Amino acid sequence: MACTDNPNNNITTYSEADLINKKVDSLIKIMTLKEKIGQMNQYNGFWDVTGPVPDEGDAEKKYEHLKNGLVGSMLSVRGTKAVRAVQKIAVEESRLGIPLIIGFDVIHGYKTLSPIPLAEAASWDLEAIEKSAQVAAAEASAVGINWTFAPMVDISRDPRWGRVMEGAGEDPFLGSKIAVARVKGFQGDDLSAVNTIAACAKHFAAYGFSEAGKEYNTVDIGSSTLHNVALPPFKAAVDAGVKTLMNAFNEYDGVPSTGNEYLLRDILKDEWNFKGFVISDWASIKELVVWGYAKDKKDAAKMAVLAGSDMDMESHIYISELEQLVKDGIIEESIIDDAVSRILTVKFELGLFDDPYRYCDETREKEVVNSQKHMDAVLDMAKKSIVLLKNENDLLPLKKEGQNIALIGALANEKNSPLGSWRIASKDNTAISVLEGMQNYKGNNLVYKKGADVSVGDTQFVNELTINTTDKSEFKDAINAAKKADVVVMVLGEHGFQSGEARSRTDINLPGVQQDLLEEVYKVNKNIVLVLNNGRPLSINWADNHIPAILETWQLGTQAGHAVAQVLYGDYNPSGKLPMTFPRNVGQIPIYYNHKNTGRPVSDTNNPNLVFWSHYSDVENTPLYPFGHGLSYTSFKYENLVLEKTVFGMDENIHVSVDVSNTGKVTGKEVVQLYIRDLVASTTRPVKELKGFELIELQTGETKTVKFVLNKASLGFYNNQGRFIIESGEFEIFIGGSSYTTLNSRFELK
Ligand code: NOJ
Repeated sequence: MACTDNPNNNITTYSEADLINKKVDSLIKIMTLKEKIGQMNQYNGFWDVTGPVPDEGDAEKKYEHLKNGLVGSMLSVRGTKAVRAVQKIAVEESRLGIPLIIGFDVIHGYKTLSPIPLAEAASWDLEAIEKSAQVAAAEASAVGINWTFAPMVDISRDPRWGRVMEGAGEDPFLGSKIAVARVKGFQGDDLSAVNTIAACAKHFAAYGFSEAGKEYNTVDIGSSTLHNVALPPFKAAVDAGVKTLMNAFNEYDGVPSTGNEYLLRDILKDEWNFKGFVISDWASIKELVVWGYAKDKKDAAKMAVLAGSDMDMESHIYISELEQLVKDGIIEESIIDDAVSRILTVKFELGLFDDPYRYCDETREKEVVNSQKHMDAVLDMAKKSIVLLKNENDLLPLKKEGQNIALIGALANEKNSPLGSWRIASKDNTAISVLEGMQNYKGNNLVYKKGADVSVGDTQFVNELTINTTDKSEFKDAINAAKKADVVVMVLGEHGFQSGEARSRTDINLPGVQQDLLEEVYKVNKNIVLVLNNGRPLSINWADNHIPAILETWQLGTQAGHAVAQVLYGDYNPSGKLPMTFPRNVGQIPIYYNHKNTGRPVSDTNNPNLVFWSHYSDVENTPLYPFGHGLSYTSFKYENLVLEKTVFGMDENIHVSVDVSNTGKVTGKEVVQLYIRDLVASTTRPVKELKGFELIELQTGETKTVKFVLNKASLGFYNNQGRFIIESGEFEIFIGGSSYTTLNSRFELK
């Protein structure tokens, strides 16, 4: 125990952490085995279901268990009143009165919604992302929630996987920085403050590598990809003090994550020294049996707890099996004590033992939920998340006066879809639509036509969406409006409920009849601005070949329409950059910028008629839009990449700088990106790896020198035994405004 002896008065002073440890130890001493196991048991509330629906009779059992101190946590209990009610049972009716920790999927906001996380990642603006998590924490903490199941830090290279919307994209460096920003935003500096909540880095590990992008599927990646790509954002979150981790539905190397001792004990708890607790994913302990890894419930409980899963979300297996396993001497009670002390520590840190109702604050709820301050913050975040993919002949920004504008597409009039699929607490139809946003600009003549529905029927969290693949009856109206317009703005893409958990797709073209609508409108008016709504990269090759301006606007949350309109009209100059590669077609997937060179790369000097190179016969190797791509209403020039020296010692810092100038007509922001390539190594290295970035703002004609410092940590990598190593040799360095930059230099590490 770390404590300091004061030599002057012989008084021993304990740190806050020491005091909590003492309290936890004394509490554990008076708990029965059953009560300890109760702390490791988490039940869903009685309202929202975010996994397979529980059995009948479930509610009675849960009440009974709450009263008997056999529940440590509940999830998805919605609203102050409901939280108070369950907390009251735990605190006032159970023997020891240990408060519950209340978890909730506060993914990109509670009621006031920010853009979906993938969109936020496109801002590359860490300060804004941290602030967005603060807004989410402020609202959630006012209604009784003290723990969010976010951030999802899974790296993914597969846009078929619906959950890419919930992460930060394909890159481990950007993903790690964003993981830290989100953890800091949720948890703040002081977890006991009433407006901060515990974060949960999920899903440990490699869930984003589900084969073929199919949800809950097998993962089969090697050790090098695990350590260099999948794990870094988790490590960054742990180093930033994240209080909890959630394990994943997938297996790694034949062992389901929930029972994976290598991941949970060896790496997370031993090597990384993680002191918080690990929660299973929904029913993932029970699913060890379905995987064919555990033979029955008892076996599953044993494997999960030994591996290091501390809390059971909705499997109801720890509570039914662990006691007997300990009594039979199969599990040592010290394993249970370790799990329980981790859970209790977080509860103490949240201040729940001081006042279990401190997060249930109706006054604060009224003040903060949907407050103007929060609306302003999510609008700011939404604007920063927009990526200008293409802008021929400066079609954008639109003129503010004197134009006839036809706005087309069902998504343009959507108040629901921009909220995305993870909005369980927020009210349906509360987003500002693009139509509403554009109506604020009154200088133009704006005509709206739907053209075609994207989906038909019910749109709910638990239902599959039915896509309109046949009804083109309203095409005619849209085409007529387009004929009369100076500019046509078409809002097309995915409905918010087409991405997210369990929403994988094999076809990532524009859904339904939207591609046909786009092509029909194009026949009568080529002056089209395509505004994309989507939770994943889409394949929009035809649009890129024909449509002059394309704006990526994702699902931007509550203030979506205002953000889109302000960018369309040039009141906000877009600066987003893609956090994930856009393929030319689905067959290129997985396609990502930090791929390996292979022994037969295609290069400019290859004879294009020769067959034996790493390529496809029917589509070129390059993506449609690379990672890091994004334009502005101004233009930037990069020059003078300066490396201090050409040879560096292992322990030296490597200083590198570049001059960036705004060569266009308006002020703009640019994300300056630095990539390296390790030319020869003991295991092959990617052709480019992001190792630094900076978001700068430049006035017209202004030049800034942007400086980066690289060190050992930037140049090393994990070998295929999972060991971090740094090797001498030659490195190439690239700086520019996307991963396709060619401005480069070289240095040697000796
Ligand atoms: C399953 C999801 O995988 C996880 O991310 C989520 O937090 C839980 N359900 C709880 O809703």
